[in-house]
Amino acid sequence: MNLEVLLAARLAPAFETVAGEKIDPAVRASQHADFQSGAALALSRSLHRPPREIAADVLARADLAGLAEAEISGPGFINLTVADAVLTSAPADPEPGRPTGERVVIDYSGPNVAKELHVGHLRSTIIGDALARLFSWAGYDVVRVNHLGDWGTQFGMLIEHMSDPTGAYSLSDLTDFYRQARVRFDNDPDFRTRARLRVVALQSGDEPTRARWRQLVEQSERSFLDDYARLGITLTSDDFAGESSYQDQLASVVDELTAKGLLVESEGALCAFPSGFAGRDGEPLPLIVRKSDGGFGYAATDLAALRHRTRDLKADRLLYVVGAPQSTHFRMVFAVGRAAGWLDDGVVAEHISFGSILGPDGKMLKTRSGETIKLADLLDEADRRASSPPVGIGAIKYADLSSDRIGDYVFDWDRMLATTGNTGPYLQYAVARIRSLLAKASASPGEVTITDPSERRLILAIHGFEAAVAAAIEHREPHRLAVYLYDLAAAFSTFYERCPIRSSPSRLTLTTHTGTTLRHGLDLLGIPVPDEM
Ligand code: ARG
Repeated sequence: MNLEVLLAARLAPAFETVAGEKIDPAVRASQHADFQSGAALALSRSLHRPPREIAADVLARADLAGLAEAEISGPGFINLTVADAVLTSAPADPEPGRPTGERVVIDYSGPNVAKELHVGHLRSTIIGDALARLFSWAGYDVVRVNHLGDWGTQFGMLIEHMSDPTGAYSLSDLTDFYRQARVRFDNDPDFRTRARLRVVALQSGDEPTRARWRQLVEQSERSFLDDYARLGITLTSDDFAGESSYQDQLASVVDELTAKGLLVESEGALCAFPSGFAGRDGEPLPLIVRKSDGGFGYAATDLAALRHRTRDLKADRLLYVVGAPQSTHFRMVFAVGRAAGWLDDGVVAEHISFGSILGPDGKMLKTRSGETIKLADLLDEADRRASSPPVGIGAIKYADLSSDRIGDYVFDWDRMLATTGNTGPYLQYAVARIRSLLAKASASPGEVTITDPSERRLILAIHGFEAAVAAAIEHREPHRLAVYLYDLAAAFSTFYERCPIRSSPSRLTLTTHTGTTLRHGLDLLGIPVPDEM
């Protein structure tokens, strides 16, 4: 039961009559009453009437019988107090949405082969996975895509390094392997030449070269899957659709764009110039589709991926969970996709951007020696610091998901592992406490009655689940659900302090529902809930 939706449905016809058009009654949970509508204030200007008068007019027409009491407050808010009888009627557990019939492709994680997952991919992985869980729960047909960086000129040096006749290399530490290849590439002109020839061999399908490339990709994929398993990420090997998988579609992408007159030759390269993009010098900004050496890059692959997702996968929505620095890239890819007709008006393509993870010094999180931190090392440290792996993982994921998506946040072990405040461990403890409380009950859950204001607040909080999930989905902001769960746990705490629970059937019902709701919510965020803490 979504009380916001119920109340809005009752107010909507009255607002429509008064405003002369359909408007959103904008019912929101409030500090001043259970819920509040501010729509009369917003209407005042267009109707040239004082907001309190509009609110009174609306209330005279609205049928709230049996659901809520209403009152005009302040400059023209409508305060709504839900009837106790509604709140005490059998509270339902959260239920997944019915199938929407819409397919949403969520592109997230996207690490690069021969470089282990590092903290830069952490946010994409955590936020993307929470969005995938949320959209599935809400009834969307979710297709997860892991757009692996498994193609490109860097493979020339990597494969050449593997081809060293002394065989003195090891793939067990891929980051290290990458570094060694890089050093040789930078310092040895002979190696550099051979690396360049390797790129050509790879692209033309030379079998021994391909075999080594596959070995590298497979080794990387295994290490990514290990990290995902530790982190409780729902991506599987079926979701890998790396850059290499679009290679045979690139020529036809160029042909189609050429036929539509969207490509211009510029200094030997084929470029699209979507309108509205200019560089710092004011010159139109090119999206390079084919480089002057005939090779294809990141942009071409993303165009092919976009066409594949709309044309073949028939996606209705495309979400790309990638850091803020790639914002221009995606806006340009979407603009070219629209011009090419691959993104028609019905399809939504969105770059779900996010801020950086900062170290205690306020700069990008790095190791002490200034290198990027490997995800596996970070997870090892979480294991050392936390009382158990789920607590460490929960702390890391919750710290990310409870932060505003767009902003940066500071990675602070002490704060994220604290058992008080808005943290993963605090919520995990709340669930564990509820479980042990219920185990010690001396009655069975029964009909709900309200005898204390904290019970009322708790019921309202439990009912807020659906609205919180809807807001998290609508804005693609998992932190809206995190904030809700924290508020719910806080409402439970107050209730627990004020009301003896063990022998009260009503309170045991409320306690059970709080536990179920918290567990569902944490699950949608991908936060593990340990049996015991
Ligand atoms: N591999 C890329 C990187 O590390 C991220 C891929 C994002 N997805 C995409 N369709 N471009 O920056």
